Amino acid sequence: SVHMKVDSLLAKMTLEEKVGQMNMYNGFWDATGPVPEGGSAKTKYEHLKKGWVGAMLNVRGSKKVKELQRIAVEETRLGIPLLIGFDVIHGYKTISPVPIAESSSWDLKAIKNSARVAATEASAAGINWTFAPMVDVSRDPRWGRVMEGAGEDPYLGSKIAKARVEGFQGDDLTQKNTIAACAKHFAAYGFTEAGKEYNTVDIGTSTLYNTVLPPFKAAAESDVKTFMNSFNDLNGIPVTANEFLQRDILKGKWDFKGFVVSDWASISELIDWGHAKDKRQAAILAARAGSDLDMEGNVYIQELVKLVKDGVVEERIIDDAVRRILTVKYELGLFDNPYTYCDAEHEKETIGHVKHHEAVLDIAKKSIVLLKNEGNILPLKKEGQKIAVIGPLAADKNSPLGSWRLASDNNSAVSVLEGMKKYTGNTLTHNKGVDLVIGNTAFIKEVQINTTNRDGIKEAVQAAKTADVVVMVLGEHGFQSGEARSRTSLDLLGLQQELLEAVYAVNKNIVLVLNNGRPLAIEWAAEHIPTIVEAWQLGTQSGNAIAQVLYGDYNPSGKLPMTFPRNVGQIPIYYNYKSTGRPYNNNENVFWSHYIDVANTPLYPFGHGLSYTTFKYTNFTIHGKDFSVNDNIKITVDVTNTGNYDGKEVVQLYIRDLYASITRPVKELKGFELVNFKKGETKTIQFTLTKKELGFYDNNGTYIVEPGDFEVFVGGSSYTVLKERFTVE
Ligand code: IFM
Repeated sequence: SVHMKVDSLLAKMTLEEKVGQMNMYNGFWDATGPVPEGGSAKTKYEHLKKGWVGAMLNVRGSKKVKELQRIAVEETRLGIPLLIGFDVIHGYKTISPVPIAESSSWDLKAIKNSARVAATEASAAGINWTFAPMVDVSRDPRWGRVMEGAGEDPYLGSKIAKARVEGFQGDDLTQKNTIAACAKHFAAYGFTEAGKEYNTVDIGTSTLYNTVLPPFKAAAESDVKTFMNSFNDLNGIPVTANEFLQRDILKGKWDFKGFVVSDWASISELIDWGHAKDKRQAAILAARAGSDLDMEGNVYIQELVKLVKDGVVEERIIDDAVRRILTVKYELGLFDNPYTYCDAEHEKETIGHVKHHEAVLDIAKKSIVLLKNEGNILPLKKEGQKIAVIGPLAADKNSPLGSWRLASDNNSAVSVLEGMKKYTGNTLTHNKGVDLVIGNTAFIKEVQINTTNRDGIKEAVQAAKTADVVVMVLGEHGFQSGEARSRTSLDLLGLQQELLEAVYAVNKNIVLVLNNGRPLAIEWAAEHIPTIVEAWQLGTQSGNAIAQVLYGDYNPSGKLPMTFPRNVGQIPIYYNYKSTGRPYNNNENVFWSHYIDVANTPLYPFGHGLSYTTFKYTNFTIHGKDFSVNDNIKITVDVTNTGNYDGKEVVQLYIRDLYASITRPVKELKGFELVNFKKGETKTIQFTLTKKELGFYDNNGTYIVEPGDFEVFVGGSSYTVLKERFTVE
């Protein structure tokens, strides 16, 4: 068994070799070029040859990886193959929608397939491990990394975590097109204070257990092979050094058998946090806490051997970490064939395959959310129309790739303009209006925003004047969300709002297509613009997907996985908030939980999304009554497609536990189903509520179900719902 193989290998390893397995380096030289002759690259290269490197990241291409594996396997004493990690977040070369967009599909099959496609391409390029999925729940769109997650809800987030893990890892990890996945960032990174990147986190136990941890648990239960910790602290302890999270919960309660990788240099950053005095202490804290692999922190490799020799760190901690890392290598089949992922011929045939383009187009269409459609401007007529396409993102072929698309080619996305041009029955004009960004938009740079150059506005307005319909493509550039892209304003950036209002002044027939990686605060647009399409950053096939939705060849079915606020001051705003002791109750005085300057309601709630058709919910029935906590409670509802198109609806079920020992949210998603309806068709949709849905975690992390009264809601969003009630004895 793998277990025995790992043990027998471990028995042969020197302490240095063991610590070597706990060391991961960033790709430091071109493996197919000359060997490094000096500096840190030389040191790392020498470490590699001694078997002191267990994993590498950011090396890609089957040839390069093969050369690295050759050194590890043929030149080191024990020939242990390397893990090759990479941020395959939403596709490798053929790019899928950013994860928050995919999550808007609520289509678990499509999400799983998108991860499958990503793994297929990445594995063909030599990669055997992805740093995905990010399963951080977040309620703060100021945080740029919400683009990388599944939104604000732990239930939806758990389902999506499972789908993504299964998509990456497939049924058989030894296959050449499956790779190890990584649930990140453990834990609570999404609650970074004020939405500011790399910041402190201070949340209560109830939020930790009921909101933050469930998607991680779902990933662990889906047999995810690795976890990554994160840059934040949690209640004063940086999570990289957090024994409670990594040992007690993950490896203890959840019995997780895989390994934990640190985030980039997060072990050495324990010093910057003021939690460790120096690298020596950082190594002690992180190793004891259960961080098994040091990503580019240079801490373990420099400190651990001596610490074990001095009797400060117990060797069994090292053995446990190495066992976990070797196990994953065995499970990937790397010991049987270290070159599984290094077949240049296969790489050539696989990457960019037409089937992958079809798959990312499919999920891109499903990711689009129709936020508003007044006056039925959409779907667009296919003939005889004069359409003005306006906006800085209309012809952009780079921005739709979003953040985390390191292996894709620049400008390789289909733009909205290109997508729309495929419909030849209309006349199109195109005007940028304004630039959104100035100059270089490279991944590692701050993107500069245009706030001064208005030269193109006049012409755009002129084009809009004579058009039947104006399609405006506005939002954020792909690199304005993602890691280290926190924002304090969620308005349309730069001069875009000005452009929108100038066009609106001459033509109100506007379809606003938003391209962005996070919820935006678009209150003015929501009030004035008749039609708004949330198209996120949809990847390689972006423009085709958008055009097919605009023209009605695909009837939109996406639903928001995250609340859109009216303004930034409402944040954090989320649908599953608590009642408080002073909820709204037809209050006549001011002493209730609210703001005096803006409504409590969001601009667009969680679960919201329209279709070109309409749905009616009737016959909402709870079957039986006086339930006990062990009962399965059957609930049915009839849903009818009452409009003029075939379409899909995400039928959503929420509950409210009316009183409990821990205060419960006013609504919690506990079931959903994505259903196809022909025009006029009615279907009965069934849900079952069990212990798993009715309970919650107490403040000791114990899952409990309490008797009492519950409300249950169904509908097409978290706000438009039918309500019933039942009692659990
Ligand atoms: O995987 C990422 C992580 O999410 C953020 N820091 C760097 C890692 C590796 O690139």
